[in-house]
Amino acid sequence: MRFQTLEDVVVQGKRVFVRVDFNVPLAGGKVADDTRIVAALPTIKALRAKGARVILASHLGRPKGGPEAKYSLRPVADRLAELLGAPVRFSADCIGDEAIAASRALADGDLLLLENVRFHPEEEKNDAEFSRALAALGDLYVNDAFGSAHRAHASTEGITRYLSPAVAGLLMEKELEYLGRALSAPGRPFVAVLGGSKISGKIDVIQNLLPRVDALLIGGAMMFTFLRAQGKATGRSLVEEDRLDLARTLLSGSDAAKLILPTDTLAALDLEGNDTGLVVPAGEVPEDRMGVDIGPATMARYSEILRGARTVLWNGPMGIFEVPAYAHGTMALARALADATKVGATTIIGGGDSAAAIAAAGLEHEVSHVSTGGGASLEFLEGKVLPGVAALSPRTGGA
Ligand code: 3PG
Repeated sequence: MRFQTLEDVVVQGKRVFVRVDFNVPLAGGKVADDTRIVAALPTIKALRAKGARVILASHLGRPKGGPEAKYSLRPVADRLAELLGAPVRFSADCIGDEAIAASRALADGDLLLLENVRFHPEEEKNDAEFSRALAALGDLYVNDAFGSAHRAHASTEGITRYLSPAVAGLLMEKELEYLGRALSAPGRPFVAVLGGSKISGKIDVIQNLLPRVDALLIGGAMMFTFLRAQGKATGRSLVEEDRLDLARTLLSGSDAAKLILPTDTLAALDLEGNDTGLVVPAGEVPEDRMGVDIGPATMARYSEILRGARTVLWNGPMGIFEVPAYAHGTMALARALADATKVGATTIIGGGDSAAAIAAAGLEHEVSHVSTGGGASLEFLEGKVLPGVAALSPRTGGA
């Protein structure tokens, strides 16, 4: 690792400002999915065990420039206390007198959660004064918020100008290790599976991955832009007309042989699941139908390819998996990843919809790593430098 980690710092008796990504769904005033909170527990527990005074900061949702009750982190404090079996104090503002007093009142091993940093518009503006006010709460900074590392905001980036060292937490390290190794030194064969509706959202990922992988399997509606580019019949399927040239370029480029398209698709009359669909060859979708999932031959072929892989990276569902009738391809892929893991492959789920899909399949513990980052993992896979990672203190001594 080129940056410092928890191993590089002494935290006993120190006020440690920890940026976490507690941007979790809430329902009825409670946390509806605590995956991201659970993912941050190793860092929080390690710091407490070492006698740190832990100050946690996060955003939640996208409040419009001021406090909004529905985006309060209070329910998260309750859930965290339950998970840890320890009290979690709460400061109703993330800066100012109350936050400073609360941070100073902490004893070794105590925990404080600050209210949503986005209740101050200065957070997203990466404002210097606001960054300084956050920095005043801690003696050192830990960034464990991989899911927010693509944002150059005050609590992810600006703060590091006023509070150092800035070190990576255990989740941040783990995310960068899995995703980083896949890009730089994957076990081979390295197979990437990309789905989702649009090529436009994934083009940079395709371009960054294609030279690195041994095979890139395409699923989701983006398959139809490729198929149309080959002159095939796609019916009423989603096609990005303005990306056809791009698809043609990819299909005729030097890595084209690695690009694998579905051979069959489930074609339905509507998107709601009223019609359970008809399996047709992928390039022969009838005029009144649209592709909503990959077909059984493609599922079998993709599963076979994954069986022989040593590294698998999956981002994006194979079809409209929220509709049960159109979820078979995505579920089959989730099972194929779990099977590949059993026979020794490193399998990585690139966050967002695919993380939701693997959880819906009940297989999230049967793969090597499920990223907590949606946008962050996508940008990482595009080859971008994440501002929250770039801001970490470099490790000296050449390690
Ligand atoms: C996410 O959920 O992807 C992160 O928490 C970032 O949230 P944002 O897109 O609102 O910045």
